[in-house]
Amino acid sequence: MYTPERERELIELTRKLLKDIDKIRSASLEEAGAYVQKLREVINYHDYKYYVQASPVISDYEYDQLFRALRDLEKKYPQLITPDSPTQRVASEITGSFPTVRHYTPMLSLDNAYTEEELRDFDRRVRELTGLEVVEYSVEPKYDGAGIALVYRDNLFVRGATRGDGETGEDITNNLKTVRTIPLRAEFSKFGIRLIEIRGEVLINKEEFKKMNEERLEEGLPPFANPRNAAAGSLRLQNPAEVAKRKLEAVVYQVSYVEPESKHPETHYEAVKMLHLLGFKTPFKDMKVCRGIEEVIDYCREWEEKRESYPYEIDGMVVKVNRKEFYEVLGFTSHHPRWAIAFKFKPKQATTKLIGVVFQVGRVGTITPVGKLEPVEVGGVTVSSVSLFNEDFIREKDIRIGDLVLIERAGDVIPYVVEVIKEARDGDEIPIEFPRECPSCGSKLVKLPGEVAWRCINIACPAQVILRLKHWGSREAMDIRGLGEATAKALYEKGLVKDVGDLYYLKITDLIKLPGFAEKAAMNLYNAIQESKNRGLDRVLYGLGIRYVGLTTAKKLAQVIDSIWDLKDMPLEKLESIEGIGDVVARSIKEFFSREENLKVIEKLEKAGVKLRRTKLEKEGPLKGKIFVFTGTLGCCSREKAGEIVESLGGIFANSVTSKTSYLVVGQEPGRTKLSRAKQLGIPTISEEEFLEMIKDYVNIDELRRERKEGYLF
Ligand code: IVH
Repeated sequence: MYTPERERELIELTRKLLKDIDKIRSASLEEAGAYVQKLREVINYHDYKYYVQASPVISDYEYDQLFRALRDLEKKYPQLITPDSPTQRVASEITGSFPTVRHYTPMLSLDNAYTEEELRDFDRRVRELTGLEVVEYSVEPKYDGAGIALVYRDNLFVRGATRGDGETGEDITNNLKTVRTIPLRAEFSKFGIRLIEIRGEVLINKEEFKKMNEERLEEGLPPFANPRNAAAGSLRLQNPAEVAKRKLEAVVYQVSYVEPESKHPETHYEAVKMLHLLGFKTPFKDMKVCRGIEEVIDYCREWEEKRESYPYEIDGMVVKVNRKEFYEVLGFTSHHPRWAIAFKFKPKQATTKLIGVVFQVGRVGTITPVGKLEPVEVGGVTVSSVSLFNEDFIREKDIRIGDLVLIERAGDVIPYVVEVIKEARDGDEIPIEFPRECPSCGSKLVKLPGEVAWRCINIACPAQVILRLKHWGSREAMDIRGLGEATAKALYEKGLVKDVGDLYYLKITDLIKLPGFAEKAAMNLYNAIQESKNRGLDRVLYGLGIRYVGLTTAKKLAQVIDSIWDLKDMPLEKLESIEGIGDVVARSIKEFFSREENLKVIEKLEKAGVKLRRTKLEKEGPLKGKIFVFTGTLGCCSREKAGEIVESLGGIFANSVTSKTSYLVVGQEPGRTKLSRAKQLGIPTISEEEFLEMIKDYVNIDELRRERKEGYLF
């Protein structure tokens, strides 16, 4: 146990050591003695925070820096090693709620390289030990998820386990059976394999992660900090049915044990290819065999660039000696194999101070607290503010101004406070007061039942009006170049515009009055506003900023109505029957059109000549106007691809069967709901062959099949 004072001291010491990390590396024996002691003190403390209390106070990267500094000093001065040094043990993750099982081979960690030089050192060691002049490496992404080991016996998935302490893990077979990308049967016998243990990672893709967190926030639950925590937390749920609801995926990247041994693939590349061919999700398409370390470095850098656009969170690249014959001579340490290393990208977590909070009013009146930070670099980007989401989030984490906070930037997600380092408090921290009045217009804020956010419901609130104008002018909406937030603000403050309808009555002489607007700029803005009149109904619907009506919903609406006025008196049930429009969205649309002030804006738009009617009924093409729904697996391509084809030929691709559906295309193992609904409504069902018959003159079906065969895994 640590007293609060001691914790503060240790955090202070941690920060000092991190600052001095370069000095530590070049320490003399005398200095090293003191450093080693201090490093052990802080590492033991952070181990305790991480493993015992499950509330780390530094980022993994910072921890790693400390650990490596200690390990390197001990290596340089072996006389300083003691048996109780934190470097002398392997960490455990066992929590005790699942039965434990022994792995076929120990599930080790990977050594890390943070610089190109460290990769070259690794290569030097490999060359020395193998005697090779040029080493062949296989390089693949390092997935940031939860590690798993899967066992297949006689082609059947018989056991799945967590990493645990590396020797034994938790048996989570039933949970893993709910993960769709883990085949329950795979034909390893085709490769002469009776029993195999493979390693991989359970993940949640970034998009699902974002959705999952949005849902959690809506439900008032704390969001997960990153996809890794979300995946690891999901795997440990005690009820497999709950696990199945989380959109988990598993990717496998390593064969660790094979019976009979003679059937172990000769290279890592071959091993992953085998898994790929057997239907596993693997890094096969994203891995590269490189000759020599310089090629490896280039490939790692290439990936560091595209890391953000990758659908999964990756924290580096794994470099593995490709040929298995060298594994034995290279061997293992107690911590990692010597034939592999992880090249880590820049970290995405950091600790910094929260120096203030501002409250922002959103376009629909939601009040969002935004934390102001002492600027800090996180994964190559300087971060100086962070969303604090809502009042509940602040209360739950007990975030105070002046706190030291651990922040993380994961995926495309805005930076997020993972943890408040309470141990670093000195008593001067100030609790955050949530306002009860709108910071923009001063009206009383409300919290609607079932919502976590406070909202300003004054439709004339200046902050909201300005953001609505800006949204109307945005590229996806009416695309009015020159109508950014600053111009919107100026137009509003000069009293020239109160809503989007007023924009169309502005004269050039009005625009010249705006600060910084010469004649040319005024002309341009005037023309841009006039041009926007013909953007179309979908863009108008989106531009109006109706709550929950995003671009997709706006497009769907625009397909089924002739004029915007159709929405005015449309009954709720009819709105809800539109494909893709649920209860919440329908209510929001209804509410919008029930407000007199909104109808007035629409009238103004109409009078000014803004197009509010559907122009083109359907896209041209051989499937014009036909609505297709698919169920089950298709042999020719994925359902998404089939949807793209339908749309490219003028048809409409929909997800559920309604009375408007033209055909339900039935593939292998179709879903019962869609089939019975089609039967109920008398919608014709057709086979995949019949569908292909319809499109065969426009699409090269053989090529489609070939693409599916090669690319269906990723
Ligand atoms: S190979 C003996 N390949 O990273 C080597 N590991 O930090 C076995 N990881 O424990 C690991 N992506 O959970 C390997 N492509 C990849 C990986 C990967 C992620 C994880 C794995 C490992 C950890 C080490």
